[in-house]
Amino acid sequence: MENKRENWGSRIGFIMAAAGSAVGLGNIWRFPYLAGENGGGAFIVIYLMFVVFIGFSIMLAEFTVGRKTGLAAVGAYKKINRSFTFAGVLGVLSAFFIMGFYPVVGGWATAYILKSFTGLLSDPAAIGDMFGAFIGNPVEPLIWMAIFLAINIVIVAKGISGGIEKAGKILMPTLFVLLILIAIRSVTLPGAGAGLDFLFKPDWSVVNGGTFLAALGQAFFSLSLGMGCMITYGSYLSKSENLPSSALTVSLMDTSVALLAGVAIFPALFAFGMEPAAGPGLVFVVVPQIFAQMGGLGPIFSAIFFIALMVAALTSSVSLLEVVVAYLMDERGWARKKSVYLSGAIMVVTGILSSLSLGVMSGFTLFGVGAFDFFDILTDKIFLAIGGLILAVFVGWFMDKNELKEEMTNGGAIKFGLFEFWYALVKFVIPIAIAIVAFFGITGIAQTSLMLFGLAVIAVLAIFSKKL
Ligand code: PFF
Repeated sequence: MENKRENWGSRIGFIMAAAGSAVGLGNIWRFPYLAGENGGGAFIVIYLMFVVFIGFSIMLAEFTVGRKTGLAAVGAYKKINRSFTFAGVLGVLSAFFIMGFYPVVGGWATAYILKSFTGLLSDPAAIGDMFGAFIGNPVEPLIWMAIFLAINIVIVAKGISGGIEKAGKILMPTLFVLLILIAIRSVTLPGAGAGLDFLFKPDWSVVNGGTFLAALGQAFFSLSLGMGCMITYGSYLSKSENLPSSALTVSLMDTSVALLAGVAIFPALFAFGMEPAAGPGLVFVVVPQIFAQMGGLGPIFSAIFFIALMVAALTSSVSLLEVVVAYLMDERGWARKKSVYLSGAIMVVTGILSSLSLGVMSGFTLFGVGAFDFFDILTDKIFLAIGGLILAVFVGWFMDKNELKEEMTNGGAIKFGLFEFWYALVKFVIPIAIAIVAFFGITGIAQTSLMLFGLAVIAVLAIFSKKL
């Protein structure tokens, strides 16, 4: 009883939706602090290498699998090879786990919209402490997380309406313009040069296996790869769409927003004499400080920035929730509303645990980390990269090469000169590269035990694949 598959209204509609999923907290909140913690320029060089040689190819592979099957992640794998159904389910699990911490940060961004007007900017020296006190508070961030999650639930319960797409179309460019403005302000602050040096002069002495894994995980996270999200989006694509050029456009947009966020933040960071390894609070501390210097218009710009950040987060989290919901609907036969409310309700619980793990529940750990880090490390360092590895093996070894070429060139109507190169990357290079990076990049007891736990989960799913 297959329904007729919806198609994207227009090329730009699809690009905006896919870019909306890709551009999110990963670019503006996560990328700068990861770069800060991992040596700046060296991290960025490695990251860009992964985006070009792995991210782009995986995105193209996901679009191709999605459009070819016309099904969301689980159904797509199942249709081609039942033994791989687990890979789709792993994607759903990843989406669920990312939603374990993403709405917490989305809630922070939402809170900061209001806080821009209520004293956040009045004392620049106190901004850092304020952030620490805010996220450790047992009540306030929970309320904002719940509000952020509620917006997701309303949108996804209604189906992806024109509303979120329209908001994205207006607010994504707004975010872009604001980031450019902040970047200009940032690089013209006295002492900004040190920040640009940090960003663009690689210091290889700090690079180790962990740097590579951080960069690889970030490439997957930022481009929304390794969990079937882009398979799902690809499934709505029309047969005349140019897949390679779409993958290129989305990857470029995503990467430019991340780099822009780096240029907006690091020069200001150095100008204010702060530490680059500031961790997850980076954007919530440095950006308000820049606005606090601006005087009268500061609060307005700050509010617009956090609105845009919240919307960027929202267009991503909606796609994450939709992956879980689409699975429950397609494979379990649930109604949309039931799927959304139930998964949303569980996400409220995981979100509460995550948020509290940064404050009152910090002593409560699993595999040596709190709930926030558990969800974060498990997805970003383990599930997404391994999900990408499995997809590459699947496409390279279990799909027909000619059929892939046929799909990617729209039956020969368009040229894709790099097909052989792409194929060799996906079939040989990417699986080996990911395996090496994952193996050598896991550091410390917590990450090692999480990796073992993650692999055990994947093994169990794989064994029961045909039953899923
Ligand atoms: N790409 C999003 C970001 O950078 O914030 C996060 C994300 C969305 C990851 C959707 C994975 C996904 F399927």
